[in-house]
Amino acid sequence: MPLKRQKVVLIGDGAVGSAYAFAMIHQGLAEEFAIINHTHEKAVGDVMDLEDATAYTHNKRIYAADYDTCKDADLVVITAGAAQKPGETRLQLVSKNLKITKNIVDQVMASGFDGIFLVASNPVDVLTYAVQKFSGLPQKRVIGSGTSLDSARLQVALSKLFDVHPNNVIAYMLGEHGDTEFASFDNATIGGVPLLALAELKDISMDTLLQVEDDVRHKAYEIINRKGATYYGVATSLVQITRAILRDDDEILPVSAPMNGEYGLNDIYIGTTAVINRTGICEVFELPLNDREKDAMAHSAAVLQKIAYDGME
Ligand code: LAC
Repeated sequence: MPLKRQKVVLIGDGAVGSAYAFAMIHQGLAEEFAIINHTHEKAVGDVMDLEDATAYTHNKRIYAADYDTCKDADLVVITAGAAQKPGETRLQLVSKNLKITKNIVDQVMASGFDGIFLVASNPVDVLTYAVQKFSGLPQKRVIGSGTSLDSARLQVALSKLFDVHPNNVIAYMLGEHGDTEFASFDNATIGGVPLLALAELKDISMDTLLQVEDDVRHKAYEIINRKGATYYGVATSLVQITRAILRDDDEILPVSAPMNGEYGLNDIYIGTTAVINRTGICEVFELPLNDREKDAMAHSAAVLQKIAYDGME
């Protein structure tokens, strides 16, 4: 029985989408990769450029398409929408990007799509919630990139502080992918050692750790101020989640996941850890939070719920 050719459809061929497509080719994920863009010729041009890379990487069918191609896709990745301008918050994009997202989901679902959505457009927690509502797909099959990128940023920052490889740092940013996100230092480890214990040994203060958390929270603004947009980090986070789905990895990743009582929350998507495999979100992991972290999660949820409800009315 030949293995089913895995098919991914990217919707939105801007800076993030194009970086994701390039990373997908290098990683050799999915035998078939279609790009849908509101300016079709941009997608055609990007395909013509990207396919030249396949001469050196992995053979795959890559083509520009319209929404009919979603019918037999395993995964549809949405990066389309307005991106933050310097000084603009992600939440300020909500009304503009909700309209774009509704239009996209309606066309994807009209194709007969019955796979998994992976959402990266901002504000990603609100838009992931909206994609689940607009599509009517089971919650587990609608995933947001959430705090995956922020957690990568935290890993990198802590690796510099403790002078170790980022792979040796297990640490998560939780909550909104945005200004109310927070680090769960209590659940962080470095080389298997609790981070706070190692910090004490190395005389690294809580103030220093909280400064790292703040730097991570604001890193996107610093990048946007200097180069106009962010794309490599988020594209790589999207590939990580894509791989866990297509390879059926059962990998625990920080994503924007639906709450059904976790952290006392319901009817919201928010950044937490979850087991990701070919079914989508196989299990949401509720991390044990200390009082500071509980308050931060509650605040983050309140901000998101207000934006989601206001935006969806
Ligand atoms: C960032 C964008 C992807 O955090 O929201 O870089």
